[in-house]
Amino acid sequence: MPPQTNVRLAQSYDIDSIIELDPIAKQELARRTFIANAVAAGQCWAAVEAECASALIGYGVLNRSFFEHDFIPLIVVKDSARRRGVATAIMRTLELRCQGGKLFTSTNTSNIAMRHLLGQLGFIESGQIENLDDQDPELVFVKLRTSL
Ligand SMILES: CC(C)(COP(=O)(O)OP(=O)(O)OC[C@H]1O[C@@H](n2cnc3c(N)ncnc32)[C@H](O)[C@@H]1OP(=O)(O)O)[C@@H](O)C(=O)NCCC(=O)NCCS
Repeated sequence: MPPQTNVRLAQSYDIDSIIELDPIAKQELARRTFIANAVAAGQCWAAVEAECASALIGYGVLNRSFFEHDFIPLIVVKDSARRRGVATAIMRTLELRCQGGKLFTSTNTSNIAMRHLLGQLGFIESGQIENLDDQDPELVFVKLRTSL
């Protein structure tokens, strides 16, 4: 059985560990700044092993940056911890934190893992945005309050 996952609000002392598990954060200052701001705003949630609360294995951000609706701009699970329900645990925590009746998120068309995850959690497609990444439209998804 995979180790149990707990999800808690990320603290400033988690930032280095979050960056360590996210290859893009390691490379890009903009991602690191985004993470630091999300943690400071209380919008970043960290997944940890149940037996070791300091061992971060993933994180997700919930804010209201999408037309003032609840929005998950980012969720990342450590490579070695994938496919054992960590993202599912993070998403369920974020769903419980929603204030409004609709929870939005988005992902590239090419991101099969995220699209499958969202389908499994009951998100439905809600349009697409061209011209963000070349040849890879951004798909918008929503989960409505009745299914939250
Ligand atoms: C997408 C991501 C967050 C999924 O994390 P995860 O912890 O592995 O996801 P879970 O274990 O909770 O998977 C739940 C379901 O999602 C789907 N899924 C997850 N990874 C998948 C993959 N590689 N291929 C196909 N489906 C996948 C499956 O339906 C899975 O259920 P199953 O394992 O019972 O078949 C992870 O792959 C990741 O961090 N990717 C890089 C960052 C990213 O693309 N984030 C999303 C955009 S912000």
